[in-house]
Amino acid sequence: MPELPPPQDDTIYGTAARPALDPDAETMRRVGYALIDRLVAHHTTLPDQPVARRGTRTEFASLVDEALPEDPHALDDCLEFFFHRVIPDLTLVNHPRFHGYIPCPSSFAGALGGMLAAGTNPFSGSWLGGSTVCALELTVLRWIKQMLDFPLHSGGIFTSGGSLANLVGLAAARTRAGTAALERGVVYVSPEGHASLRKSAAVLGFPSAAICNVPTNANFQMDVDALQACIARDRRGGRLPLAVAATAGTTNSGAIDPLAAIADLCAREHIWFHVDAAYGGFAAISARGKQLLQGLNRADSLTLDPHKWLYCPMGIGCALVRDPEILKRTFSADGEYLADLPRDEVNFLDHGPELSRPARVIAVWMLLRSAGRKELARQIEHDMELAQLAADLLRKNPRLEVQDPVLSIVTFGHRKQPHETEVDRALRDTKLMEATLASGELMLSTTTLASRTTLRLVVMNHRTTAEEIQRSVAQIHQLTL
Ligand SMILES: Cc1ncc(COP(=O)(O)O)c(C=O)c1O
Repeated sequence: MPELPPPQDDTIYGTAARPALDPDAETMRRVGYALIDRLVAHHTTLPDQPVARRGTRTEFASLVDEALPEDPHALDDCLEFFFHRVIPDLTLVNHPRFHGYIPCPSSFAGALGGMLAAGTNPFSGSWLGGSTVCALELTVLRWIKQMLDFPLHSGGIFTSGGSLANLVGLAAARTRAGTAALERGVVYVSPEGHASLRKSAAVLGFPSAAICNVPTNANFQMDVDALQACIARDRRGGRLPLAVAATAGTTNSGAIDPLAAIADLCAREHIWFHVDAAYGGFAAISARGKQLLQGLNRADSLTLDPHKWLYCPMGIGCALVRDPEILKRTFSADGEYLADLPRDEVNFLDHGPELSRPARVIAVWMLLRSAGRKELARQIEHDMELAQLAADLLRKNPRLEVQDPVLSIVTFGHRKQPHETEVDRALRDTKLMEATLASGELMLSTTTLASRTTLRLVVMNHRTTAEEIQRSVAQIHQLTL
């Protein structure tokens, strides 16, 4: 063996690592334990912290302008900075009274899984790169299919969220349609469909004219007769009806499109049936949710979001595609540098747009394994019951009009007063939203439904109790104008 030149830098040939990147074991332990202590304190005091604060860039100038660090800072100092300068003014999506948008309430079990993934850093793009985490991903995908009665032979992958899962589903639909897809294809979406569906279609190369806006009925569900009429009109015009993107739990109101009827129509017309179940999908693991979501398991492609109603940390979506071959044909990747991959095993780089990808599965696995399906089903039903409780309590205020939740979104707003314009009525809704935000007590959000500003209160958090709902509603009553 040729002799090596003498070391010039102990970090090249010697045993010393760069301590700023990998400190010694004692420091790792000390800082690691300190981090856990701070996280536990953060988790256990959540109800007492303000839910949200909307500072400006000027107020956060010291964060925005933080200078590039040329020299090391101690890890303890970085932790201190984060917990003192970032957390106190952060909107806390884990907070039991965060009722805005669609919450992403990570559990401690999910967070531990996320820490395991970051701490061990497995590569889950290929079997060779991380065979055991790929095996785990296959298993957890199967568990999800089992819970939702989705075909076990279907393909699937964990994505960064629901938006990317929608992209995967529509990409698979485009593959099945072949070359005519981009020239003549039409994708049917209701105005209540999530923006990521339209964004995905655009990214995939569909012109904006390829999106057909299917009207909704009075309950904000896709109107199946109108859908049928749009399809017939497009066929007559020489277009190719390619995919229907239905929603199982719309972001605005939680409406569930008539999934079984749309599945029938798609089967008859040979059209791809995509279901965006990013919000509502996991409700189907409970008996009540299953009843509401009949037809979900007939989708050709299905978007799910473990970082929503499966209590996992942010950054974890899931796409299931009934025909695994279509999924593979859509994303299969080649390259001389991939020649060593065992092609008879599952390489997730062939199932989605990413090559290097974190082992998102670990958080979902940790959560599902530690909680078990039954407990999760009970929790999801509990969230739905608490949403109904919120509706019942809000209704006690005669100044408010309240709609019952379909899943766990309560929509409500100020009742119109005699001689009041709709603009003024809507202003009271937005003022209430602003006032709740400023109170730090709870977070709501607004939307527009049937051209009317509406307040939304979402319940989706294992930390939310009946007492927390009472506290949120009491605050709303106090701030109602
Ligand atoms: C129905 C629906 N689809 C898709 C998405 C996008 O999911 P993500 O934010 O995980 O990308 C959302 C987000 O709230 C949603 O409610």
